[in-house]
Amino acid sequence: MTLTGKGRIAGIIGWPVAHSLSPALHGYWLDELGVDGAMVPLAARAEDFSRVIEGVRLAGFRGVNVTVPHKEAAFALAHETRQAARLAGAANLLVFKPDGMIGADNTDAVGLFDSLQDALGGVAIAGKNIVVLGAGGAARGAVYGLQQFGHVAKITVLNRNKERADQLVAHVGKLQPDAVLQTGTFDEWDQAAADAWLVINTTSAGMKGNAPLALDLAPLPQSAAVCDIVYNPLETQLLKDAASRGHVTIDGLGMLMHQAAPSFEAFFGVKPTVSPGLRAALVKVLRERG
Ligand code: ATR
Repeated sequence: MTLTGKGRIAGIIGWPVAHSLSPALHGYWLDELGVDGAMVPLAARAEDFSRVIEGVRLAGFRGVNVTVPHKEAAFALAHETRQAARLAGAANLLVFKPDGMIGADNTDAVGLFDSLQDALGGVAIAGKNIVVLGAGGAARGAVYGLQQFGHVAKITVLNRNKERADQLVAHVGKLQPDAVLQTGTFDEWDQAAADAWLVINTTSAGMKGNAPLALDLAPLPQSAAVCDIVYNPLETQLLKDAASRGHVTIDGLGMLMHQAAPSFEAFFGVKPTVSPGLRAALVKVLRERG
């Protein structure tokens, strides 16, 4: 891509950042849509974050996507925040406005929801029971986000550290007083799984280099779907087990692609489409990396 004087530039900032699929993802859409732009990886340590942001803002970047470990810092330095970012206390998108203001958003929850809609054929999630595994930042986005898209019957948050699950539920419960939220450790899995319609893994267990969750899927009803937000590997042990038992499985690439779409539109001014071609291109990148 050769930028003309009018080319738009955005960044993906993280530490490390080399593993990020964002340049490939945005690059695919830039080519597909014929947009004169670029998405540049920015490796920045925590202590350099605000300096790098100021530098790229002054250099004319339209904004940045934000990944580990900067999502909270990104939220803290923004002048204007969208509700999804306030709820998460974290931002994955910073937009640099012409008046010098920095806007923060968090597109993870909508990304997860759109991915579920794609995979499950647009079914309504209202009235369903959902089990969320994990209680970190990703779980918080999932619990808040799912509830927002329809009145879920019940969400059960299971976490190794139950106190963290209780804190998450207390936080979301304050904002969504009607939500039926339960917590437990993995000891409560059998009970929670028994009436689940959907299980979502938001923990980092099962990610390349991490041991998988040791969950026996036998208590899950055959009709339940299993979603993993991990996308490297694409088919985690959890999804392999679920597929072998005949459950519908949803991998983390769907959420990754869908959470990127609003960022692309904010940076480059065109609404992109999540397509099989994009998925194939990203799967190829993941395979090449091994
Ligand atoms: P993120 O913001 O990506 O969600 P995080 O805040 O570090 O990351 O949260 C990681 C989540 O994965 C937590 O729920 C963590 O459980 P604890 O709160 O008990 O630490 C969970 N997690 C990480 N490794 C795990 C493992 N091997 N088994 C079970 N849960 C794990």
